[in-house]
Amino acid sequence: MSGGLQVRVELPQPFGPGAIKLAFVDGRQILIVNVEGTLRAIENSCPHAGASLFGGKLIGGKLRCPSHGLLIDLATGCAGGEGGPQAQVYSIELVEGGVLLTL
Ligand code: FES
Repeated sequence: MSGGLQVRVELPQPFGPGAIKLAFVDGRQILIVNVEGTLRAIENSCPHAGASLFGGKLIGGKLRCPSHGLLIDLATGCAGGEGGPQAQVYSIELVEGGVLLTL
């Protein structure tokens, strides 16, 4: 994670467990995912070959890339186990009517 710019993103309501939103923020595409009540934010780019992760299947705390099936941990961005490729994840916090992403 890098630090600094904080951007507020509105979420559709309700945004319950399993919900996924694709947000366009500061020139990036970021997926916001509700994992069993915990919000996660991850760059919408698979660390394998850059495919969009939107439409991927949520399995526990992981998202399965719709292209070739890489499983990406939404908390850490780790994919394919230790030493595997790494997706960019962002810090996310709940605020009134939406979330605050730290880019
Ligand atoms: S691009 Fe995601 S698994 Fe290949």
